[in-house]
Amino acid sequence: MKLNNLKKAKLKNKYVLVRVDFNVPIKNNKVLDDSRIKAAIPTITYLIKNKAIIILMSHLGRPQGKVVDSLRMDMIAKHLSNLINKPVFKFDDCIGPEVEDFINTMIPGEVALLENLRFYKEETDNNYNFSQSLANFSDIYINEAFATCHRDHASITGVTKFIPSYAGFLVQEEVRQLSKLNYPRRPFVAIIAGAKIDKLDLVNELLPKVDYLIVGGVISNILLKAKGEKVGRLNVDKKSLVLAKMICDNPKIILPVDFVKDDGVIKDIGPKTIENIKHFVKKARTIFWAGPLGVFETKKFAKGTYEIAWSIARSKGFTVVGGGESASVVHALNETKNFSWVSTGGGAAISFIKNEELPGLKVLKKL
Ligand code: 3PG
Repeated sequence: MKLNNLKKAKLKNKYVLVRVDFNVPIKNNKVLDDSRIKAAIPTITYLIKNKAIIILMSHLGRPQGKVVDSLRMDMIAKHLSNLINKPVFKFDDCIGPEVEDFINTMIPGEVALLENLRFYKEETDNNYNFSQSLANFSDIYINEAFATCHRDHASITGVTKFIPSYAGFLVQEEVRQLSKLNYPRRPFVAIIAGAKIDKLDLVNELLPKVDYLIVGGVISNILLKAKGEKVGRLNVDKKSLVLAKMICDNPKIILPVDFVKDDGVIKDIGPKTIENIKHFVKKARTIFWAGPLGVFETKKFAKGTYEIAWSIARSKGFTVVGGGESASVVHALNETKNFSWVSTGGGAAISFIKNEELPGLKVLKKL
């Protein structure tokens, strides 16, 4: 896939709007894993060196069109500023006259970060006027948010209607690396887990691509429920349950067989499941992993996730980990160098492997 390369853009003295994915885990006002921020730095540095005026924008969490103070971008602006050793101006809004007035005072090489885009419902609705208001600040748009490229949102696709648009270095490298999964050496094993219920659709669509699909987290609970097993309280809509019933007996699906529970609630996979997953990992020649297998943030429920991360890291096959949380586990365990590629995308990476044309990439295609 050939994308409009940032290197082709004339940047000097230009206002450059950069969509990044700084949707990073934050606790007690601290960024817990900054790998997504670090991944955007080569592009930011390139823009600084080339004397562009840099306006960064990102979402954080899912505030659903409301201002949520704990999801403001201030902490991230500070963190980025420390990483690039330069002030990062943080705005309290992402559109409007105040933001525009400040941007007009910026000089080449300076960096600003807009407020959380998802404080506006118009962002996820891909509203035309909102997209235009974002594009108004700038001469050029760069997409460096691979992890959000599967979303048809204003800052991902909407803005590209108004200004020339390019792919940042991270987006280009993600595409190069993940494309290798479209021609996998077999067996190809995918491990899909985590807390996002919307991955169920992705699991279904990934099935034809892989030889084995190991499922954990909320998805495995839904599939087990569909099989009539007791999984405790589970908020699942009817449509997901119908889909789960359709796929739970597919012979490619490998489900957990035991669990670690706390007060009757599943918190991690159990020892038999860990051994079973290791068995599949051992025989795989291509592995894609997205989503932790338990509540790994709590030490006593991290074993399943850690053991699987270690076993994939020891594999001699082509190994890719995707998604903010699983990637942060790999970084925390110091195993980054033992994976063939650590993708910043979770849902985006899965969609890409399905051979789906991601909306965010489609609009960056070289004409
Ligand atoms: C992610 O964490 O996968 C990306 O930032 C996209 O977030 P979303 O699933 O809330 O759109």
